[in-house]
Amino acid sequence: MTVVRSVVLGCGAYLPERILTNAELAASVDTSDEWIVQRTGIRERHIAAEGEYTSHLATKAAQAALDDAGLTADQIDLIVLATSTPDHTFPATAVQVQAALGMTHGVAFDLQAVCSGFVFAVATADNFLRGGSAKRALVIGAETFSRILDWTDRGTCVLFGDGAGAIVLEAQEGWGTSADRGVLTTHLRSDGRHKHKLYVDGGPSSTQTVGHLRMEGREVFKHAVGMITGVIIDAFNASGTSADNVDWFVPHQANKRIIDASAQKLHIAPQKVVMTVDRHGNTSAASIPLALAAAVADGRIKKGHLVLLEAMGGGFTWGSALLRW
Ligand code: ACO
Repeated sequence: MTVVRSVVLGCGAYLPERILTNAELAASVDTSDEWIVQRTGIRERHIAAEGEYTSHLATKAAQAALDDAGLTADQIDLIVLATSTPDHTFPATAVQVQAALGMTHGVAFDLQAVCSGFVFAVATADNFLRGGSAKRALVIGAETFSRILDWTDRGTCVLFGDGAGAIVLEAQEGWGTSADRGVLTTHLRSDGRHKHKLYVDGGPSSTQTVGHLRMEGREVFKHAVGMITGVIIDAFNASGTSADNVDWFVPHQANKRIIDASAQKLHIAPQKVVMTVDRHGNTSAASIPLALAAAVADGRIKKGHLVLLEAMGGGFTWGSALLRW
């Protein structure tokens, strides 16, 4: 019996021009390149220019993904955009991207699951495609976290950056086995009891301000590896696969230590791990498609490869997606 699978047709990414190095940060807060690299693996991050918004980064990444897929915006009927740093409280950043791409049909909306946003967006688009309410989707992660950082707090400002990434998914027929191309299984979780470990201290309904990111870094670290590995084991069990079958592990790029510890616990060999956190820091919902685009561009990820995505972030939210490229 055949099933519907959401197959990746293309991917793209965009990073703002301005690069902020660890050494530059050390000139404004009490930190050092050595501390940041040793604790996080981050060497530099990109910062959006004045007047450059999340929707602008998202549109560039989306256009790159469309070009890679050989499609135009009129062939897309769904845009799911994951962000925690929208241009405005409303309308959704996704509809700004829809307009910028010249797309006047279909539907576009934002999704908010902080750093897990891209995995949540893939799962959402996959459900639309498998349910038959859309045929081709742009799934975008785009952020301007530089705009919600407290640049005097060395515990957080060194960790994050701006960027965007996108993939195009198309509904195609598969056989319902793990040999199919496309999204094979997704597993999403959340637990609102952890709100105060990672949050923004402002918002339209509470303070009528945008607010700044606040984090208990050590607490986040403590929960991250267990949550990540839990949803990955769920993915293996649901698809009848194991770490041995994975060609590329493309985790949320928050922190090298979290990525290394997760891969080690899952027995995923270091050479299968795609790591780009050194180049752009934690770009929240944008980090996975940025890493995907890098590994596709340099020839590592190829058609037919089994690719494992995972993320964990504020909420807490966490999730995994297993797909065959
Ligand atoms: N430079 C120098 N020293 C610093 C810095 C900095 N940038 N930031 C904190 N410190 C100091 C602290 O003040 C503290 O000093 P003290 O001992 O004199 O009090 C010391 O370093 C240790 O602080 P900790 O917060 O305990 O440091 P830790 O080893 O836990 O590393 C870090 C901090 C890197 C944030 C770590 O906890 C971490 O990686 N947590 C995960 C957070 C994360 O990745 N969040 C992203 C969002 S969630 C997600 O995407 C998964």
